[in-house]
Amino acid sequence: MEDRIYLNLKRNEKNIPIVFVERIEKIREYILSFNCSNLVIFTDRLVYRLYKDFIDSLQHSYLYLFDKGEESKSIESYLKAIDYLLDRNVDRRALFIAIGGGVVGDVVGFIASTYKRGVRLIHIPTTLLSMVDSSIGGKTGINYKSYKNQIGTFYQPEMIIICPQFLGTLPKSEVLSGFGEIIKYGFTLDKSILDIKDRFEKDVFEIFQDKILAMQLIKKSINCKVKVVEKDEKESFLREILNFGHTVGHALETYYNYYFSHGIFVILGMVAEMILSNILFNFDLSNLDFLIRILEKNSIKLPQRFEKSQIISIMKYDKKNISSSIRIVLLKDVCDYVLGYEINEDILYEALDKFEKIVLS
Ligand SMILES: NC(=O)c1ccc[n+]([C@@H]2O[C@H](COP(=O)([O-])OP(=O)(O)OC[C@H]3O[C@@H](n4cnc5c(N)ncnc54)[C@H](O)[C@@H]3O)[C@@H](O)[C@H]2O)c1
Repeated sequence: MEDRIYLNLKRNEKNIPIVFVERIEKIREYILSFNCSNLVIFTDRLVYRLYKDFIDSLQHSYLYLFDKGEESKSIESYLKAIDYLLDRNVDRRALFIAIGGGVVGDVVGFIASTYKRGVRLIHIPTTLLSMVDSSIGGKTGINYKSYKNQIGTFYQPEMIIICPQFLGTLPKSEVLSGFGEIIKYGFTLDKSILDIKDRFEKDVFEIFQDKILAMQLIKKSINCKVKVVEKDEKESFLREILNFGHTVGHALETYYNYYFSHGIFVILGMVAEMILSNILFNFDLSNLDFLIRILEKNSIKLPQRFEKSQIISIMKYDKKNISSSIRIVLLKDVCDYVLGYEINEDILYEALDKFEKIVLS
């Protein structure tokens, strides 16, 4: 298997290859084909422990390890990495490699876009979520105070290398997290992804043991993301579709202090946003069954009740909102969406009320 999808960005005439490789060992060839002054690898301690032999085989000049987890997307963590690079006189002809999940990808993307006004970057996503979502599209970001991704840039990598072998060590919660994003593409952009419903008597984990099915789902998802980013790189309009499930999902994620992994909050957010879609556009609520089944099968329950007014106030700070109005992506039907719908707070209360009954019962 050696195939690729191109992300074609007309604005800066850049064709970014998304390369699929079956075996980790193959990645080295791609990296070594780039000329650079210094090869700097960024990963987290856990990924390094799991893939030490592979990472060390890349003949890096420097290896920078983040602690695992969202904390690595703080300003302090960003500045510490910048100090590390400055102390070693890393120049702008270096090549940065981000090996890890969305956290490593986001913070290293931000470092690469700002250090010396921009250093070339390759993403090697190692979680399902980062393969199908965060490594593609060029969004970088760090968190500020308790708000996610408030500081960031758009910065495209030279290449993205997808190797499903990394999924072999991923814990179930992280597989489920990526699955949340895959299902989002199914409800918004590619109905055929939802055919998985019929095979869903199995555990999500088992689905991803089936390498052919896993690869199909990953490629379909990447195709969805590529198509949207090609049409709207800087999230001016169409790219908002990718936020389905995320407005409520992010607010819950902040409120519950990252209690579950990101994609699980996206699944919960999709439930809430489908309820809103039902209230406003008569969206067929039988579509919720699949999401509820995923939550039930994986025993996902919010740990305690939430304060609706606080969820709403967090939503107002969502960076996608203009002033303090709450704008959200809604569905009229599967893959028939309404972008940037300005939500009235009373309706939001009503939907959150229904949502709470479903997810806490
Ligand atoms: N830039 C974007 O467009 C975009 C889109 C979606 C999400 N995000 C961001 O992505 C982040 C979430 O990313 P994530 O879900 O990948 O989480 P993550 O990066 O925190 O990784 C989850 C955990 O998995 C571990 N891990 C990574 N690869 C592994 C492997 N192969 N085997 C075993 N363990 C492994 C990590 O060490 C970490 O503990 C959030 O910060 C979110 O804001 C960004």
